[in-house]
Amino acid sequence: MAAPKTTVWQLDPHTKAKHDLLKHYLGGWFPVLSSYNGRIVFLDGFAGPGRYETGEPGSPLIALETLLSHSHFAKMKCEFLFFFCEAKKDRFESLTEQIAGFKETRQPWPDNVKVQLVHSEFSETATSLIDYLKSQKKKLAPTFAFVDPFGFSGLPMRVLAELLSFSSCELFVNYMVDHVNRFATAGNVDHHLDDLFGTTDYKSAGTVTGKTRQQFLHDLYEKQLTDVCRFPYVQSFAMINKTGHIGYYLFHGTRDVKGVELMKDAMWKVDPGGGFRFSDRLAGQDVLFTESSVDTDPLRRALLQRFSGKRVSISTVEDYTLIHTPYRKTHLRSPVLTPLEKEGIIKVERPGRSGFPKGTWVTFP
Ligand SMILES: C[S@@+](CC[C@H](N)C(=O)[O-])C[C@H]1O[C@@H](n2cnc3c(N)ncnc32)[C@H](O)[C@@H]1O
Repeated sequence: MAAPKTTVWQLDPHTKAKHDLLKHYLGGWFPVLSSYNGRIVFLDGFAGPGRYETGEPGSPLIALETLLSHSHFAKMKCEFLFFFCEAKKDRFESLTEQIAGFKETRQPWPDNVKVQLVHSEFSETATSLIDYLKSQKKKLAPTFAFVDPFGFSGLPMRVLAELLSFSSCELFVNYMVDHVNRFATAGNVDHHLDDLFGTTDYKSAGTVTGKTRQQFLHDLYEKQLTDVCRFPYVQSFAMINKTGHIGYYLFHGTRDVKGVELMKDAMWKVDPGGGFRFSDRLAGQDVLFTESSVDTDPLRRALLQRFSGKRVSISTVEDYTLIHTPYRKTHLRSPVLTPLEKEGIIKVERPGRSGFPKGTWVTFP
C-alpha cells in the first residue's frame, strides 16, 4: 500500500492476515524459546501507531497480547524484551499512548515483560544496538524481528545480517516487491536498493520483463537472506489478489527447522479473505495456501522428479517436503504417497503392515 499521510489508517484485509500469521507464529515461538533461554526479544522495526482507524490492534499490541494471553504464560519464566521502533513523531506518540493504555488494562504488569519504545529509524536503532552489544562483547538474545515497512527504504541487508547473526534469531519481513519492481531500474533510488539487497545485482532486472522480472527480484532477495544473513531456511509467501497480481511477499528466515514447520502451519491456517490469497510456486505451478481445497499435484510431481530412481527413507521425503516445498508434513502421506503406492508407481518397504511409519523406505521410479 502507499504510505498514508495520516497518523492512523484503515486496516485492510491483507494486513489483518499478516497479523493473524504473526499471532499464530508467536503463539508457538514464545513457549519454545522461553523454555531454554533466560531472555528473548521481539523487535518490531516499523511498529506503526499502535491501533488502526477503527480501533483494531497493530503489531506491537498483537505481540504483547499473544504473550500475556498465552495459556502457558504463567510457566514462562524467562525475561521478554519488546522493542518497538517507530520513526514518525505523531505515530510514535500514538503508539506510546496505546501501549500505556494496554498496560493499564493488564495490571499488575508482569515483572518479566519489559517494553522499550524507540523513536527513531529502524536501521539507526539496530546499529546502536549492534554497537552496544559489540562493546559489551555480547550477542543479542534469541530475537524475532518483525520488519514491516511501507516501501523498501531504511531496511539494509547488512544491518539485518549483523543484528540477527546469533543462531536463534529469526526474521519475518514484508518485502514490497511491487515497489521494488517499479523502481529497480529507474536509477533514482539506487542507494536504497543497494542497501535493501546488499548488492547491485538487482540492476540485472533491466534485462527481464513481466512476471519473470518479479520472480527475479524475489529470488535475489531470497538469495541475499540466505547468503548474507546466513539463514539456511528461507520461506516466502506471495500475497496475490483476484487478478493474480502479487503485491508483496512475506519472507521468513530461520536457522531451525522447527521454525519452518511453525510458520508453515500458520500459513495454512490463515485465510486472508477479501479476495486475497497466499501462494507459493512449486514445479512451475502456483500453490494456494487454503486448507479447503488443497491441490497436492505439484508436490506429487516434485517428489517424482526429486527422487527419480532413488530409494530413500520416509524422513528424507518428509524433510524435503517441509523444507523445499510449500506443503506441510500432513499433505504428504494420505494425499500423495498412498495414491502413488496404490497406482503402483512407488514401492514401499515398511516395518509394519500399513502407513508410512519411521523406518519406512520408498523407491521412486
Ligand atoms: C506498515 S506500517 C507498520 C504497521 C505495523 N507493523 C502494524 O502491523 O501494525 C510502517 C510504519 O513504519 C514507520 N516508518 C517508516 N520508516 C521508518 C523507519 N525507517 N524506521 C522505523 N519506522 C519507520 C511508518 O511511520 C509506519 O508507521
